[in-house]
Amino acid sequence: MTSAVYPSLRDRVAFVSGGATGLGAEFVAALAAQGTRVAFVDIDEPAARRLVEDVAAAGHPRPLFLPCDVADIPALQQAIAATHDELGPISVLVNNAANDRRQRVADVDVAAWDASFAVNVRHHFFAAQAVAAQMRALGGGSVINLGSISAHIDLVDLPSYITAKAGVEGLTRTLARELGPDRIRVNCIIPGWVMTERQLRDWVTPEAEESIRRNQCLTEPVMPVDVARMLLWLAADDSRMCTAQTWVVDGGWM
Ligand SMILES: NC(=O)c1ccc[n+]([C@@H]2O[C@H](COP(=O)([O-])OP(=O)(O)OC[C@H]3O[C@@H](n4cnc5c(N)ncnc54)[C@H](O)[C@@H]3O)[C@@H](O)[C@H]2O)c1
Repeated sequence: MTSAVYPSLRDRVAFVSGGATGLGAEFVAALAAQGTRVAFVDIDEPAARRLVEDVAAAGHPRPLFLPCDVADIPALQQAIAATHDELGPISVLVNNAANDRRQRVADVDVAAWDASFAVNVRHHFFAAQAVAAQMRALGGGSVINLGSISAHIDLVDLPSYITAKAGVEGLTRTLARELGPDRIRVNCIIPGWVMTERQLRDWVTPEAEESIRRNQCLTEPVMPVDVARMLLWLAADDSRMCTAQTWVVDGGWM
């Protein structure tokens, strides 16, 4: 299978949160393979450093890793400023970091709820706010938020995560409206159940595989690369008149 090359992404600067593993790592590698200069933040430093070496060894621009907990907004703002200083103005922002820790309704206290919102929706807003001036100066940019199929199907044990992910969709629409006159596009990708290493390790049982086959129209598993291909298109100028939308990559589950 061949995949697209996007000349508009070459030499651009992208910033990815939660880029060390899972979908985020796929996004970092896919953007770098287009010649994009990528900075990413994460709390998993060993995985991040391995990814930097792997991408550079493949002959792509060496990503810039900045250790940062996205729940710490001043640290996130500092990482975005450091990216500007090192690589130049950011024209692609990928708000990807999240934590889908399982919680029973009865067990969620205020601290757990707030901690979940801090990692699943709050940083999206403050990262977009921080890059907006850089994108405006460039004459435009693309912000891509990661939502989740979980906000659209019947799932339990994720009340704060699902509420935050529903919020990501609303945030996408209002940011697109306010930033549109500056040619800053804001879109939301809704992945279905994607077979990252962590999902395969922690959650994909034979029963789960059966549920995927039953619920998806396309019965093959959704892989990280499938989501990355949508992300590249939304990042590139090929999608120049697309904003304020959700883009579902779920094999037809929703
Ligand atoms: N994998 C799926 O099936 C799936 C389905 C729907 C939506 N999504 C969404 O796609 C995105 C990526 O999913 P994933 O499965 O790769 O997630 P993941 O949990 O496997 O990886 C998230 C990354 O974010 C990092 N991270 C976690 N907390 C952080 C923090 N406080 N500060 C900085 N980095 C932090 C982790 O270290 C990790 O590298 C998320 O927004 C998720 O909600 C994933």
